[in-house]
Amino acid sequence: MVRDHFYSLFLKPLFFSLDPENAHQLSVSLLKAANQFPGFLNKIEQVTTYKSERLKVKVAGIEFSNPLGMAAGFDKTGELYPFLAKLGFGHVEIGTITGEKQPGNPQPRVFRYPKDQALINRMGFNNPGSKEALCIISTQKKFIPRGINAGKTKIVPAENAVEDYVKTFQSLSGVSDYGVINVSSPNTPGLRNLQEKDALVALVNGIRKGLGGKFLIPTFVKLAPDLEENAFLELLDIVLDLGISGLVLTNTTLDKSSLTGYSRIEEGGLSGRPVREKSTGFIRLAYKKLQGRLPIIGVGGIDSGESALEKIKAGANLIQIYTGYIYQGPFLPYNILKFLDNFMLKEGVGNISQLTGSE
Ligand SMILES: Cc1cc2nc3c(=O)[nH]c(=O)nc-3n(C[C@H](O)[C@H](O)[C@H](O)COP(=O)(O)O)c2cc1C
Repeated sequence: MVRDHFYSLFLKPLFFSLDPENAHQLSVSLLKAANQFPGFLNKIEQVTTYKSERLKVKVAGIEFSNPLGMAAGFDKTGELYPFLAKLGFGHVEIGTITGEKQPGNPQPRVFRYPKDQALINRMGFNNPGSKEALCIISTQKKFIPRGINAGKTKIVPAENAVEDYVKTFQSLSGVSDYGVINVSSPNTPGLRNLQEKDALVALVNGIRKGLGGKFLIPTFVKLAPDLEENAFLELLDIVLDLGISGLVLTNTTLDKSSLTGYSRIEEGGLSGRPVREKSTGFIRLAYKKLQGRLPIIGVGGIDSGESALEKIKAGANLIQIYTGYIYQGPFLPYNILKFLDNFMLKEGVGNISQLTGSE
């Protein structure tokens, strides 16, 4: 389509000539500039937004106009939410936000692997902290559901992790529709240890207790695609007793064996196409075991209608993109949603929720 070519011929070469983080900053500046001309932003909204009654879905008691969201990490401060809400997304997951402000790892810390449509990042939760994030978010008008992804501040010792997560949820639950306990980013030392069964039970119960005995908003847990299958199945045995509202599957992977032919493979988490199959595999396992008793947000390597449908059929109730958006551009949400809608029309399916787990 002409507009897809506009991204691949003009914008993408410009963005890809810059360091990935600078390209991200440039796109933020362009969006802010566009915001000065509301008519222009409305025009962008019109051409990037796909609407259909069939795509409306209710998950964890929250109404979504479509199942596709922006994954955590793209809007680390919360400031991009108003723009992303006008770019065709059905929800935006803000963060990761930590209890305290922190700068993250030294730059460069995001790297492209274009042959594989992949990224490696070792951002290390650069974010304004829960207090400042509240200042940013609380001035914004609400358009679509907003998730708040919480992680642990790097300098906070593991034994004080609960207090750090509680701080974020206390600050931001009032301005969010759902929360995510992120225990799966590979770039905060020791964070993934919190995925160990007993540690996760203690963390989730601790957070709930710290919030006065119940979560203030539906709260999900985000897991890594590097868990051993047995450890993952054991976690699935206990998640129903944790009182959480669902799972986000998955974060980035540390397995870079599929990246070949590059002179240098960076440290950090790998996202994009190489994580697609792994992530779908975890969703499939979880759906088979939980049979819809806990909703799943599927994320990892979605960059087309087909890969989105794969996640939903494997068991995802909602889906998210990040790396695919970088490679495919701003019409990806429209293209994915149109594909899903046409598929439903063709198959005589009345609502997207009927496709979940239908493989
Ligand atoms: C540059 C970058 C930063 C990310 N930061 C976060 C983060 O702060 N918190 C989080 O839970 N996931 C983060 N992620 C992981 C994504 O949310 C997503 O789980 C993962 O990239 C797989 O999806 P994708 O293949 O569509 O990118 C980040 C991913 C990238 C590429």
